[in-house]
Amino acid sequence: MRIGVLLPSCALTMTMTATNAFAQMLGGSAPQPDPPATPWLDAERTPDERAALALEQMTQDEKIQLVHGSGDLGTRTSVQSNGGAGFVPGIARLKLPDLNMADSTVGVARGAMRSRYSTLMPAAVAEASAWNPQLSYDYGALIGRELRAQGYNVSLAGGSNLMREPRNGRTFEYRGEDPVLTGKLVAQAIRGLQDQHVIGDIKHYALNDQETGRGIGNVLIDYKAARESDLLAFEIGVKEGRPGMVMCSYNKVNGDWACENDELLNRTLKQEWGFEGFVVSDWNATHSTAKAILAGLDHEQPGSAHFGEALKKAIADGQVPQARLDDAARRILRTMFALGVVDNQSGQQVVDIYGGFEIAQRVAEAGSVLLKNSGVLPLARSGTIAVIGSHADVGVLTGGGSGQVDPPGGNAVKTNLTTGSRGIWYPSSPLKALEAAAPSVTFVYDDGTDVGRAALVAAKADIAIVFASQPASEGSDAVSLSLPDDQDGLITAVTAASVRSVVVLETGGPVTMPWLDKAGAVVEVWYPGARGGEAIARLLLGDVNFSGKLPLTFPRSEADLPHPVIAGADLKPVALNDPALPTGRRRWELKPFDIPYPEGAKVGYKWYDATGKTPLFAFGHGVSYTGYAYSNLTVTPNEVTFTVTNTGQRKGSETTQVYATLPAKARYAPQQLIGWANVPLVPGEAKTVTLKLEPLLLSVYDAKSRHWVQPKGPYQVHVGSSAHDISLTGTFTVR
Ligand code: BGC
Repeated sequence: MRIGVLLPSCALTMTMTATNAFAQMLGGSAPQPDPPATPWLDAERTPDERAALALEQMTQDEKIQLVHGSGDLGTRTSVQSNGGAGFVPGIARLKLPDLNMADSTVGVARGAMRSRYSTLMPAAVAEASAWNPQLSYDYGALIGRELRAQGYNVSLAGGSNLMREPRNGRTFEYRGEDPVLTGKLVAQAIRGLQDQHVIGDIKHYALNDQETGRGIGNVLIDYKAARESDLLAFEIGVKEGRPGMVMCSYNKVNGDWACENDELLNRTLKQEWGFEGFVVSDWNATHSTAKAILAGLDHEQPGSAHFGEALKKAIADGQVPQARLDDAARRILRTMFALGVVDNQSGQQVVDIYGGFEIAQRVAEAGSVLLKNSGVLPLARSGTIAVIGSHADVGVLTGGGSGQVDPPGGNAVKTNLTTGSRGIWYPSSPLKALEAAAPSVTFVYDDGTDVGRAALVAAKADIAIVFASQPASEGSDAVSLSLPDDQDGLITAVTAASVRSVVVLETGGPVTMPWLDKAGAVVEVWYPGARGGEAIARLLLGDVNFSGKLPLTFPRSEADLPHPVIAGADLKPVALNDPALPTGRRRWELKPFDIPYPEGAKVGYKWYDATGKTPLFAFGHGVSYTGYAYSNLTVTPNEVTFTVTNTGQRKGSETTQVYATLPAKARYAPQQLIGWANVPLVPGEAKTVTLKLEPLLLSVYDAKSRHWVQPKGPYQVHVGSSAHDISLTGTFTVR
């Protein structure tokens, strides 16, 4: 009831609640404001309370609206989308904002469509090569800020699939082959991003480890092996990063589509890991209505084929309980409140271009890996240096597909000039950066299209740097581990002609190197991003030391892989009679096929160690311009302590790695990564490092009890600078 009260002190009529009015007349406490009509907007309440309050107010149509995309792929203007990959209209009457989703693995994608600029970060595999949690946080935070600045509040990133298949076209979007490294780093990237009030995700859940047949492949894997490998990466990422979303993948896992897989979604993710956010389908990866939502899928993208009218009907028919729709909607609302997208609805501003450059360069420098150096690097700052191939005069290669960021001005390679020009180059020229940083050197550029001419240019110079690249993109895998377009031929000729040669690789994943013995130095810079050219120049000239380490193994050849031929790659499309097509026309399709993983949980280095195969470059490998020595190891079941000393002439940062060999009966791999530390050291300096051991990382998964169990018995702990460069070993026993 509202009443008018005439206050004696002044002749004003005021309106207040009866309670307040009487309280005041009785000399009680000061008037309290009316309770808000929109209590879910009260930031003092918990996200769960706010979600419950908002849900109470929602009609059935509004709930349905929240659990699917609008179908707008950023190309149409029929709805008020911001132009990203996904759009969910808000509920204005409840003051709930639109959800604008953008791909943002390496920066905000599709910017050029609306004349927007975004920083192209180095590929996620480069971020992982830094092995630096703080840098991963900064990487995510930069992308989060740019998403906000451009009006997005949902990110599609967080690539965490393990590199089981090194030819996978998306290796550059992921964080290598180890579940612990991947999980811990992606968690930091997610935290950095979500701290900007953007909903983050982790993808593609799960075992979407190749692009060949990604929409028809059925991964066959023992659940225990899955928990100890790919799912462990997601478990750590989900628990430590607390992403708002998990994106389920295109493939099947053990017979069920990942987006309608009760084992993966309900049991593992939601019940056992306690995931509180919502599961979003990969784009068009939803295959059903009742089965999918009952298995734990909460949100269909990009359209509404299964979670629109069909879902409404399934609820009305009793196939799907109302409570399940309520739970899906509640999870989405809860995430919106928890991550601040309701409370922080604005934030658009001009992107901080220079701030972005600075972080992109830092990541490129920390994430580039010096694979080999027989004294050619750092470059001398005098004489003549030949720069050859891969458009090094104009830019650096970028990854393609949804993990691509539009370069300002478009592709820096304007015509189909030479090798690798299928890719998109970003205008950060290594040649120009080298020229600017070393003005006393004479640089000679050759585009590498004529191998004989390139070899002559190399022979005449004091040093020859040959750039090689391997474009990669979502949607297909590399046909082999060889560099495309016979760049091996070019490198062979250049390294043979030059006494002092350097090979710079711009690849999304590992490649073979038939010319390795001849090369004086080999550097892997991945897709190095908006300041790639500058980072390469500084690293090659020694203005900054190398500190990156491989987050994945470089194999010697396809024959050493668990799958020498990519599963499904040799299948031929079959003709299907499709009644929808005009008579006489047939649809060609690959038949669904299985992807067995013979390596089980032994992914990457664990496979090579277990089978006794020697890789080209081991997991964790990376040298620098200085040297490091390890000493004084002590180990207990709880921690490892050792000393690292910089034995060289330059300052650097060593990523020391700790591996464990589990007790004989329990171990599934000869050794597994259990921790690491980045140790910056000036020449002569020694630091003592103490790493706390995490029981989870020393455990095996017991499929019967569905728990991680730390086995009893003797453990070996190995400390060194790569999986195959171990300096110290100690033991402890769990009784
Ligand atoms: C990709 C996802 C991406 C989505 C939206 C899919 O094809 O697999 O990674 O986020 O498209 O662009």
